[in-house]
Amino acid sequence: MKKIKPRIPEGGAIEDQPEMTMEQYSEIMKKQLGKEYIRFAKNVIEKVSPNPHSKVLEIGPGPGWAGIQLLLKRPDLELNGLEASADMIRVAQNNAKKEGLADGIKYTKAVGEEMKGVPDNSYDLVISRDSLHHWINPEKVFLQIKRVLKENGKVYIHDHRRDLNLFGRLIVNIIGPLAAGKMVKYWKSSIAAAYTKEEIEEILKKIDCKDWNVQTELMDLTILKK
Ligand SMILES: C[S@@+](CC[C@H](N)C(=O)[O-])C[C@H]1O[C@@H](n2cnc3c(N)ncnc32)[C@H](O)[C@@H]1O
Repeated sequence: MKKIKPRIPEGGAIEDQPEMTMEQYSEIMKKQLGKEYIRFAKNVIEKVSPNPHSKVLEIGPGPGWAGIQLLLKRPDLELNGLEASADMIRVAQNNAKKEGLADGIKYTKAVGEEMKGVPDNSYDLVISRDSLHHWINPEKVFLQIKRVLKENGKVYIHDHRRDLNLFGRLIVNIIGPLAAGKMVKYWKSSIAAAYTKEEIEEILKKIDCKDWNVQTELMDLTILKK
């Protein structure tokens, strides 16, 4: 069996840095990952089919582009973003306003591990994109998701996977610098902090999330509850 390197955690909130404000981060992400955000929104709609007027919670929205794309496609949804970084919330609020969605999206500063103030059984769908590898304690976040989801609630959590095969590693190392420029170092550190399908399945088994599934693609993994 292939030996997989241990995780190198990235840990916690992403905040303004001396070399880059979160406004700059947001613009780079929009330019480089614009199509990925659209793909994420399309996948949420196709794979978990949110019911009309669903109440959706996004964990770690960062600059907000993923949730914004979802609301542009499905304006009937109500979206709340739970984000650990005040700097990201400032940027996401501004982005939502510029897209004409200021009334449809509300952001709250909190971590997924605690979800302070979020009532039990209050959401129809929980989504997240590329935030899982930052969570200090994914088990606690999954338990919170279970708590705040309504009966028959849905989950769509998408992230990198650490156990890339040779083709995946070639993409990061050869196409990465061409496609992502100086951001490739963040891509690589995100992959090193990411989980494998087996690691996630072990956590889900421990906390009895029987109807949650983990699916993998070449570069990514997705946790689904339909
Ligand atoms: C790599 S960014 C991804 C942002 C966005 N989802 C995207 O796809 O562009 C990860 C985000 O998760 C946030 N975050 C990290 N740990 C968190 C936690 N435990 N609870 C909530 N947000 C968290 C970070 O502050 C950051 O905004």
